[in-house]
Amino acid sequence: MSPLTARNPNESDRDAQAIAAAAAVGPLFTEIDHVAIAVDDLGAALDSYREAFGAVVDHRELIDDDGVEEAILKVAQSYIKLISPTRTDSAVAEFLAEGGEGVHHVAYRVRDCAAALDVVRAAGYEVLDEEPRRASRGPTAALILHGTLIEMVEA
Ligand code: CO
Repeated sequence: MSPLTARNPNESDRDAQAIAAAAAVGPLFTEIDHVAIAVDDLGAALDSYREAFGAVVDHRELIDDDGVEEAILKVAQSYIKLISPTRTDSAVAEFLAEGGEGVHHVAYRVRDCAAALDVVRAAGYEVLDEEPRRASRGPTAALILHGTLIEMVEA
């Protein structure tokens, strides 16, 4: 399989040049920005987080385009986002229907989202966003790697 089309190349398949190029760039991730957890009932989930962990909501936000409501809990310099669908046709609704509640994605901070996308693509990995998308925290782009939806957030 060509490294340009491989989604999850094995170490042995990896192009030594791509690894060397990535190593030359250095680590892309500067921090965990947030972990998003899909829940059926946002109010019930927040109650659980308050009762179990004394969690405090930083803010709540309705993201109409994605059909999602999210509640953001600050943890040191990172966040936990509890996300719940507001429409049955939203991607999070599909996620919940397929596998139930659980970790939806992990978002890492990068210094430059477009540059990070270039590095990932140069290493032969497919991305879900060809260009960074505008998001509340800054430009972001996503890919799936080893079964995990990963977001790279410029922040
Ligand atoms: Co996110």
